[in-house]
Amino acid sequence: MADGPPMTAPAASLAPGIFDSSATAVQKMNAIQQRYAAERGKWLRPEGLAQYIDVALSDRFRHYQSDPWSYTYMPLLEEMGYMPRHKYAFGPELRAHADRVADRYKLRDKAVFRMQVKSMEWDDREKEWSVVMDQNRGNDQEIRMTVRARFVISASGVLNYPQIPRLECLDLFKGHIFHTSRWDYNYTGGTPKEPSLSNLKNKSVGIIGTGATAIQCIPHVAKWAKLLIVFQRTPASVNRRDNRPTDPE
Ligand SMILES: Cc1cc2nc3c(=O)[nH]c(=O)nc-3n(C[C@H](O)[C@H](O)[C@H](O)COP(=O)(O)OP(=O)(O)OC[C@H]3O[C@@H](n4cnc5c(N)ncnc54)[C@H](O)[C@@H]3O)c2cc1C
Ligand SMILES: NC(=O)c1ccc[n+]([C@@H]2O[C@H](COP(=O)([O-])OP(=O)(O)OC[C@H]3O[C@@H](n4cnc5c(N)ncnc54)[C@H](OP(=O)(O)O)[C@@H]3O)[C@@H](O)[C@H]2O)c1
Repeated sequence: MADGPPMTAPAASLAPGIFDSSATAVQKMNAIQQRYAAERGKWLRPEGLAQYIDVALSDRFRHYQSDPWSYTYMPLLEEMGYMPRHKYAFGPELRAHADRVADRYKLRDKAVFRMQVKSMEWDDREKEWSVVMDQNRGNDQEIRMTVRARFVISASGVLNYPQIPRLECLDLFKGHIFHTSRWDYNYTGGTPKEPSLSNLKNKSVGIIGTGATAIQCIPHVAKWAKLLIVFQRTPASVNRRDNRPTDPE
């Protein structure tokens, strides 16, 4: 299936000078769109999210390293007078920067944690949003709160629920098993700060998947395990990160 409606000559001629609206160009553009759609179709599985089971919310990302350049990814660098140490910042540096921003702008007592937005309705008469939220502090007692605000910014992300493959046979596996978002240091040995997975020395380990998480943990497991088998369903492309310290100049 093509990605969006195929391009037509009249549509292309809406922006003269930008699009070449000749029949050959339109034909070429349609062919490219179809190629992209076919390529993407290889990545999107028809079962969608139904192939996974939700895991309760994850802990923080211990081995995080910014993918975008630190100089654009870390906010308020000029205001904070801070220069990132590397082209791609490491998790602890990002965390320390967030702490500094929270302190400088006195945000600590203004954030309302464990709060889930349930609905947002625009009140046209008052020209305000009415935002209904539930707070759950883990004691099964939800506290409902309604906040009215002229401006609301939604920054709710898309990746905040870890999921495991919905495999029928998963519970038949006799060995030890865990999800990367629940890394079991008691079993592997090591700590988040010192990932020497020494307990894996005599173990054969299987890793399902070759996504970004697998790519991050495979080298560490390979270093320690007696045998590592990586199960790959779809090949992923991997490039050199080429991280380096910030040039003081
Ligand atoms: C396992 C994993 C590892 C990653 N590692 C890296 C990495 O090493 N480097 C990198 O650059 N990127 C990494 N990423 C990607 C990166 O984490 C995301 O791109 C980034 O966090 C997106 O930021 P965000 O603010 O848009 O959303 P999020 O960080 O997802 O923040 C959204 C927030 O909104 C909250 N929220 C959602 N719905 C509601 C609601 N109804 N009410 C109240 N709150 C709500 C969520 O709880 C969450 O706290 C990783 C992602 C994952 C899943
Ligand atoms: N930037 C970073 O450093 C970083 C680090 C970690 C995570 N992330 C982000 O976090 C998100 C999640 O990444 P992730 O690596 O945890 O998960 P992911 O991208 O969803 O990868 C999951 C892997 O498991 C495989 N898989 C799933 N179900 C399977 C099954 N039934 N049989 C065989 N293989 C199966 C997938 O194969 P298929 O491809 O065939 O489905 C894929 O290789 C991504 O958006 C990623 O970019 C980023």
